[in-house]
Amino acid sequence: MLKLRMPTVETERLILRPIQLEDDKDMYEYCSDDDVIKYLWFEKHDSVEFSRYIIEKLYLNRTSVGIPEAYAIVLKESNKMIGTIDVNQVYFNEVAVIGYVIHKDYWGKGIVTEALMTLIPILFYYCGFYRLEINHSSDNIGSQRVIEKAGFIYEGRFRKRKRERDGHRADYIYYGLCKDDLIVKERYGEEMYEKTIGNQIQSKTS
Ligand SMILES: CC(C)(COP(=O)(O)OP(=O)(O)OC[C@H]1O[C@@H](n2cnc3c(N)ncnc32)[C@H](O)[C@@H]1OP(=O)(O)O)[C@@H](O)C(=O)NCCC(=O)NCCS
Repeated sequence: MLKLRMPTVETERLILRPIQLEDDKDMYEYCSDDDVIKYLWFEKHDSVEFSRYIIEKLYLNRTSVGIPEAYAIVLKESNKMIGTIDVNQVYFNEVAVIGYVIHKDYWGKGIVTEALMTLIPILFYYCGFYRLEINHSSDNIGSQRVIEKAGFIYEGRFRKRKRERDGHRADYIYYGLCKDDLIVKERYGEEMYEKTIGNQIQSKTS
């Protein structure tokens, strides 16, 4: 049985906590930016009310359809919500597909890498997934670097899979990580998870 209610956890610079309706203004800030949504599947947000509607309709119902709650990425120093990292699809009750986005002002500071490397062990050891999947447009070099830095294993290239907003058809690159992959044991071992994130979760729930 997968655990779908996500625990709030802290990293060096971030708080990852379930997204909430009150994140509407912060979400609007980055989802109304053409550069941010360039490779994302959803339409540009045209008002705070639309962001609130999306949070309510697309994010807050996740657990009722067998998907873990989405994390808001919050900066510790300002308590500002600057993006999301989440599982957007679940297959066979043990495979999770991950996605992420953050505000343009914070790109290139290692923030999504920090969030992803925290989420990976949570999905394996807390939620109970066996396999994680992730993909990016071949044009999206920033996302490719995040995925590589987190240790995902390249699995294939789907040619001309999606027509991007500028009209051209981009290849999509697919990666995976399984719980028993050597890189997972070395980089995201369960013992290490228990000492760091697991302990945090334990002390908050006990
Ligand atoms: C892609 C995205 C999530 C990356 O987040 P981030 O916090 O900036 O990522 P990080 O800082 O952890 O790592 C980005 C890496 O890509 C590199 N990079 C970014 N843009 C690049 C580019 N155009 N060319 C080459 N390298 C690039 C950065 O230098 C960094 O690499 P480094 O650490 O080796 O220097 C962020 O840009 C974003 O939110 N984009 C819009 C939404 C999106 O595309 N989501 C992913 C859909 S698959």
